[in-house]
Amino acid sequence: MSTFQAPKGTYDLIPPESAKYLAVREAIAAPLKNSGYGYIETPGFENVELFSRGVGESTDIVSKEMYAFETKGGTKLALRPEGTASVLRAALQANLHKLGNLPVKLWYSGSYYRYERPQKGRYRHFSQVGAEAIGTEDPALDAELIILADQAYRTLGLSQFRILLNSLGDKECRPVYRDALQGFLRGLELDEDTRRRVEINPLRVLDDKRAVVQKQLVGAPLLRDYLCDACKAYHEEVRELLTAAGVAYQDDEKLVRGLDYYTRTTFEFVHDGLGSQSAVGGGGRYDGLSEMIGGPALPSVGWALGVDRTVLALEAEGIELELPATTSVFAVPLGEEARRVLFGLVTELRRAGVATDFSYGGKGLKGAMKSANRSGARYALVAGERDLAEGVVQLKDMQSGEQSPVALDAVLDAVRERLA
Ligand code: HAM
Repeated sequence: MSTFQAPKGTYDLIPPESAKYLAVREAIAAPLKNSGYGYIETPGFENVELFSRGVGESTDIVSKEMYAFETKGGTKLALRPEGTASVLRAALQANLHKLGNLPVKLWYSGSYYRYERPQKGRYRHFSQVGAEAIGTEDPALDAELIILADQAYRTLGLSQFRILLNSLGDKECRPVYRDALQGFLRGLELDEDTRRRVEINPLRVLDDKRAVVQKQLVGAPLLRDYLCDACKAYHEEVRELLTAAGVAYQDDEKLVRGLDYYTRTTFEFVHDGLGSQSAVGGGGRYDGLSEMIGGPALPSVGWALGVDRTVLALEAEGIELELPATTSVFAVPLGEEARRVLFGLVTELRRAGVATDFSYGGKGLKGAMKSANRSGARYALVAGERDLAEGVVQLKDMQSGEQSPVALDAVLDAVRERLA
């Protein structure tokens, strides 16, 4: 073991487990690529103010969990705690919204950082695949994103997840609700921290999981009863489109989410096999975010799915992904000359697209065959001096153990034929 360990709240992805993470990322990205979303990549850190303004000064993410630091040049940066603010910043910076083709649809995949108390499913470094549709107000776009996330999860074989759906209203109706809720909350018996939250961000109090708080929330005014006609109609249409697409959801009036930029549609994918960290993904509309970070009005919607928690959800449901074999052919040279010849064949096979590996380090037959077995290869190419003298190599089927000589110049064809 080295003197060093991965930092607290982080873990390494190691083969063969790591293949699952790649497969999950690909499965989430596939329906997006198929629906007009283009790939975007942004830096791992940004100006800290992008997040404090975008995600919200009063959110836990910004006030407690952000890795913020000052560079030697005095610039205040933060490791990105989420992707939406960065993606919107990048789209604005590149003027994508001015190209006359709205919505700008983007997807991304990467690492995010939150200084949270680590536990199963909650890490300080985690991975998301996300999607953002920027610049258009259309309930079909909200529905599209939810449908695509649902499709990704179904393709992975997941079934024990639920979609929670809510509308948080807009800048017309939410302030009226906020006042009403604040009035109600001020009359409750709450600790000092929560009372402060009532003043800064009363909606977040609805999200408080503690029984002492939840008990008192019975009878709290519901946003549903305060939505303006435009928000109501918008939400109704999102719901109808989801129903028409056969995507089941549950209305959850208390779903507020932990980021301040949301307006109207908000949703969360929760998995019942995950215990307390049950949210595998979430998102919603953020019609005001662009203006909050200095851009023009660009109503937008998006989501991010957590890769770590999606892998945990697969494990909870006992789903083994069918991962493609990493190696099809494993070459086992016996002796110096065979090493040179087989290395040449390995290169030829690889250039032809056949997944091939080689026994390095001058191992003997037994050790090399053990490596061939471990690699999961379907075939081994074995050659010693006598084979080479006859101009052949032995092609061995690793399952049946059958072995037959193949002429050196016919190896590629023989391998292709058998793998087909
Ligand atoms: P979020 O709900 O904060 O939303 O994160 C989305 C997902 O990332 C969560 O559901 C969870 O699976 C995963 N996640 C978050 N924190 C952790 C953690 N500490 N450890 C492991 N997984 C975690 C957002 O980030 C928004 N940017 C989503 C969005 C995109 N809204 C609009 N567009």
